[in-house]
Amino acid sequence: MSQHLWSGRFDAAPDPAAFDFGVSFPLDRRLFEDDVTGSLAWAEALVACGAVSADDGRMIQEGLSDILEQGRRDPAWVTGGDEDVHSFVERQLVARIGDAGRRLHTGRSRNEQVAVDLRLYLRRRIPSLQAKLKALVGTLAAQADAAGVTLMPSYTHMRRAMPVMAAHFLLSHAAALRRDHHRLGVAAVEADALPLGSGAIAGTGYAIDVQRLAARLGFSRVVANSMDASSDRDFAATFVYASALAMVHLSRIAEDFILFTSEEFGFFELADKSATGSSMMPQKKNPDPLELVRGKTGRVIGHLTGLLVTIKGLPTGYNKDLQEDKEPVFGSEDTLAVSLDATRAVIGSVTLRADRTRLAASGLLLATDVADYLVGRGVSFRQAHEIVGSMVRQLLTDGRDFEGLSVDDWRRFSSHFGDDVREAVTPEASVKARKTPQSTGPDAVRAALAETRAWLSS
Ligand code: ARG
Repeated sequence: MSQHLWSGRFDAAPDPAAFDFGVSFPLDRRLFEDDVTGSLAWAEALVACGAVSADDGRMIQEGLSDILEQGRRDPAWVTGGDEDVHSFVERQLVARIGDAGRRLHTGRSRNEQVAVDLRLYLRRRIPSLQAKLKALVGTLAAQADAAGVTLMPSYTHMRRAMPVMAAHFLLSHAAALRRDHHRLGVAAVEADALPLGSGAIAGTGYAIDVQRLAARLGFSRVVANSMDASSDRDFAATFVYASALAMVHLSRIAEDFILFTSEEFGFFELADKSATGSSMMPQKKNPDPLELVRGKTGRVIGHLTGLLVTIKGLPTGYNKDLQEDKEPVFGSEDTLAVSLDATRAVIGSVTLRADRTRLAASGLLLATDVADYLVGRGVSFRQAHEIVGSMVRQLLTDGRDFEGLSVDDWRRFSSHFGDDVREAVTPEASVKARKTPQSTGPDAVRAALAETRAWLSS
């Protein structure tokens, strides 16, 4: 038997330069399990509507189960010169059971078959990415817990802004990752529709009970339109987008920790086991894994762009261009998975250097607190801003900061400063003064950590 599914119409064997170009088996062999699962259910549906006899149905079931078992036992067996995984499974089936195997494709097209496979695949695989995201959130929560009440500076425009709890900084990244977890779930929901019954484009002529078939395959609904279904890859684009945005978040985590573990900041220390040395400069301790995560983000953003551009010019109906959906989907999945693991390993083993962060959280970045103090004494915020601005200018000239000032020094700037100003203007007082639930106030951060823990165990 030939290794392609459409030889009847042709009187010449395919030119390898053209046929090999169209082969997708090395990539879509990943869909093996889903392809067989989909075919098992399709065979049942064919028997149920009388399109295939019960005997043939039984033989197909046995053949496919056998193929599935062999492929699971020995994944390397899923290989050959076939055009794609669908051709491979059908060839194996016919080799096992002969003519009955040729009845499996009754009323079905590869166009809907590849769509159902990819939907099943994503629904099967997304939970494992979500588990890795959850593990990283768990690592950030553990670091936040270990940070206790340690303070550090926050930055806007990469300039010192206001003191924050180190735990608040760590949980800021957890917040973004939790959105990624949700977004991947949305992609799984979008993939949750059965395309079978769409035929090649117009629907099938066999009275397939598609609702029952959907339920059998774990789908909660059936696609609305067969013409749309055969070329709809929105669910794949949603998945790649969710992956790309998760990579963007990992890249930003990487960037923060590349900076904060540098000699210049020294806020965290990289563990030896997750850093690398230099072949020439003996003093170096490099954050290679974080740099690679940041670097690989470009590739997943490229996958998203590539997939969207592939889809954008297609006329209605299946077009072979859609075969190009595999690399973006599988490539994004693989890159996100290894990047999540690597990030977790590095972040899980950094040590917070509380002495350094506390020191960096004091000084002129308390200026907002000084202004707030004056507001508390009835000064308008704009006027307070002016007063404190000129204080900062003077202190910079003198090479001092707020903490070195005596009460008399304070009073020279404004008569509104009282004896209590020295206790009011400290990094600890600054974070305690934050009142909203999303703020760095110690109670708010404690509650946020507890809420994160509850989410982790949900
Ligand atoms: N390998 C193809 C793909 O991945 C399967 C569908 C082929 N359909 C077709 N009419 N050639 O898109």
